[in-house]
Amino acid sequence: MIRATKIDEVKANVREWKKAGLTIGLVPTMGYLHEGHASLIERARRECDKVIVSDFVNPIQFGPKEDLATYPRDFEADCRLCEGLGADLIFHPEPDEMYLDGFHSYVGVDTLSTELCGKSRPIHFNGVCTVVSKLFNITEADKAYFGEKDAQQLAIVKRMVRDLNFNIEIVGCPIIREEDGLAKSSRNTYLNEDERKKALIIHQALTKGEQMVRSGEKDANKVKETVRSIIESEPICRVDYVEIVDWNELQKVDTIDGPILTAVAVYMDEKVRLIDNFIVE
Ligand code: PAF
Repeated sequence: MIRATKIDEVKANVREWKKAGLTIGLVPTMGYLHEGHASLIERARRECDKVIVSDFVNPIQFGPKEDLATYPRDFEADCRLCEGLGADLIFHPEPDEMYLDGFHSYVGVDTLSTELCGKSRPIHFNGVCTVVSKLFNITEADKAYFGEKDAQQLAIVKRMVRDLNFNIEIVGCPIIREEDGLAKSSRNTYLNEDERKKALIIHQALTKGEQMVRSGEKDANKVKETVRSIIESEPICRVDYVEIVDWNELQKVDTIDGPILTAVAVYMDEKVRLIDNFIVE
């Protein structure tokens, strides 16, 4: 597996692969890889001739009070996992390789970014769209793989690709969970054992909400209230939001009568913010 830190190294490999008529799959990550990422890499491996994993903690998607400095990193472990899964190249640039002095060009998707996580993380999705656009240009990938755990991110990237005519197919992949239901996340490592156990209430609440929707409940507020009250029954959980939005426009719905995303963000003990969701198509 090639380890590249420079954009030009990636481009040189991409040029060779394209010349040989090979397809390229991109898995964009911020590293500290877990089984959720592994499932994306495996799918890319099955569907594309060459697989690039980007491993870059993108500073411009973190707000001033967020966890950029402490975000977990273990590049050697990431390399072992990617190599084991048959990735061809891991791209691990320094921030100043991605953002040159005087960097002033940003990509954003307006309305889809204002609800859900966009409310408490106002610059986040512009940072995501900007880095993802750069990665699409650098890798010239045919397909890029994103997890449904960040469902808003997935919807925003899909819309950006459609609106700006990027030549790439965005593939959404199901949430991977621990055996007990907790959604896999690099941020789970911030939880101590007790918080980790208590975080299970999030999946339990969403499971109850999903049962209500699937058995015909149309009143979005009733579903949201049920989910919220289950989560809040655990005193160390503070709900940032519980929201039901339509799965295309990400706008709030009162009545459930089409594809919906039910998404939550929850602070555990005021220090770790976890997200999770369910989608009913
Ligand atoms: O989902 C992530 O890990 C990041 O937001 C992404 C897509 C790699 C962009 O930095």
